[in-house]
Amino acid sequence: MKKDLLKLLDLSTEEITTILNTADQLKYEQKHGIHQKYLEGKTLAMIFEKNSTRTRVSFETGMFQLGGHALFLSGKESQIGRGEPIQDTARVLGRYCDGIMIRTFGQDEVEELAKYAGIPVINGLTDFCHPCQVLADLLTVREHKAVLEGLKLCYIGDGNNMANSLIVGGLNMGMEVAAACPKGYDPDPKVLDFAKSDPAHKFSLVRNPKEAAAGADVVFTDVWASMGMEEEKAERERAFQGYCVDTDLMALTNPGCMVQHCLPAHRGEEITAEVFEAHAQEIFDEAENRLHAQKAVMYLLMKD
Ligand code: CP
Ligand code: NVA
Repeated sequence: MKKDLLKLLDLSTEEITTILNTADQLKYEQKHGIHQKYLEGKTLAMIFEKNSTRTRVSFETGMFQLGGHALFLSGKESQIGRGEPIQDTARVLGRYCDGIMIRTFGQDEVEELAKYAGIPVINGLTDFCHPCQVLADLLTVREHKAVLEGLKLCYIGDGNNMANSLIVGGLNMGMEVAAACPKGYDPDPKVLDFAKSDPAHKFSLVRNPKEAAAGADVVFTDVWASMGMEEEKAERERAFQGYCVDTDLMALTNPGCMVQHCLPAHRGEEITAEVFEAHAQEIFDEAENRLHAQKAVMYLLMKD
């Protein structure tokens, strides 16, 4: 049966570990010039209904490195933009391609695509989650800290797609997760239910960023207004005052605490330029790891 990557809620700890281990292996091979044309002759269709730099370039480059081909479909310029039903698009792409990556708004669109395509579907970001990003994030933290289990992951800001995936991914890998979100901007109820579903999960959702940051081993943040929420920008800037990752907040964390940001970053809003630049190495390692984590996902889902 074909497999998809639609959301981290669908994955077990073992499956996430397999993806991370495969990513390590593929990264090693690529850095050492080892042949890795595992997807020779295969095509990945990439549907984008929102902007992207990292996701587009890392999927396209990853597919090329694996010996396959990636093709870009803009939501606006394809028939999707003129209202062709997602289930028809799915069945057409399923006849030509070997996998589909989609970045869109509703999680239901991705689930619908996967239901009808007959080929693996990979979620490249929805309003609900960003699984590929968080797989890269877990890979980066594991590279820097050697383990994930027992570390404290802190998330400061909007309870958005990144928060949702970080909570699920972090808890799944045995991390303690503390999120600080302003009232009215909590993570998705399905994610909060997941957090509560297992007594082994160490999770807290608080309003005070200092409480979440205390004793953290890695601090994550993300933009205050995600793609599609541009008209709420001013209102969100007011709501998120005090939710900036700055040196005072970092002073409360554990020694050697990492900072991660999925990017693009807004210096002076969710993170200061000072903290960003002090942790630039880790943040751009994280960006690089999109390539390796996604190659692992494509390898595991699309290889014969
Ligand atoms: N982090 C991330 O998904 O970046 P892009 O929006 O540039 O793809
Ligand atoms: N939360 C952000 C992530 C961008 C990669 C957004 O959805 O715009």
